[in-house]
Amino acid sequence: MGILDRHKRIETHATLLLVLSFLVVTIGGIVQIVPLFYLQNTIESVEGVRPYAPLELAGRDIYLREGCYNCHSQMIRPLRDEVERYGHYSLAAESKYDHPFQWGSKRTGPDLARVGGRYSDAWHVDHLTDPQSVVPGSVMPPYGFLMNRPLDGRWIGDSMQAHRTVGVPYDADMLTHARADFRAQADPLLNPDGLQDRYPGAEIRNFDGQPALTEMDALVAYLQVLGTMVDFSTYTPDPNR
Ligand code: HEC
Repeated sequence: MGILDRHKRIETHATLLLVLSFLVVTIGGIVQIVPLFYLQNTIESVEGVRPYAPLELAGRDIYLREGCYNCHSQMIRPLRDEVERYGHYSLAAESKYDHPFQWGSKRTGPDLARVGGRYSDAWHVDHLTDPQSVVPGSVMPPYGFLMNRPLDGRWIGDSMQAHRTVGVPYDADMLTHARADFRAQADPLLNPDGLQDRYPGAEIRNFDGQPALTEMDALVAYLQVLGTMVDFSTYTPDPNR
């Protein structure tokens, strides 16, 4: 019996075909996936990537709560059209403190991985309050109510502690100052003692332009830090690191 005849027995026997295909896919999967857990350079450590400052982290929670990821991805693929439109392709290290990651799979709106610094705070506030007022024809829903929802950072220490449990290196100093840092980032008059040492490059200002600290402050602080941690004018990929 020739080899093709033997193979025909597999092809005509549904259960056998299913079992053998499963076996092949399993082996292929193991060979591809398992080494990633052991290779040192799976996540290259990149200078500049730091955990989110408390206010940014709170903004990220609002981003999740409002389901912004249903319309926005945060992952720039290494394809020419994407790199020309959005900037340097995303590095694994850039989302290593994101739990869960926000890569997304749907782009009703543009990718947001590098939206930080692209627009002013006022633009974001206008846009989130009434998207059509700045982008006529936009199908993005309005989020103006965020302006009326005060935040006091009551839970921010707990949230940071939870992130620490899953591997984000928030240290004792960061946890002690969690609530003070939370408030100080949105109010330069509060003397943000050491905030920028703990979170290098953290921007300190009143993000939503009104006196109260609101969810809008937090969300805009988060949007403004996206993709800004790594300095791509000096970054060179190092395959050995
Ligand atoms: C129903 C889909 C949808 C949802 C949900 C949505 N957006 Fe959008 N977003 C869009 C579309 C479409 C655009 C492009 C038109 C525009 O700029 O308004 C956009 C644009 C943006 C931009 C400007 C990006 C750029 O590079 O020009 C930002 C920032 C943004 N959205 C943030 C958010 C945030 C934050 C949330 C959650 C609070 C959110 N979006 C929820 C659809 C959505």
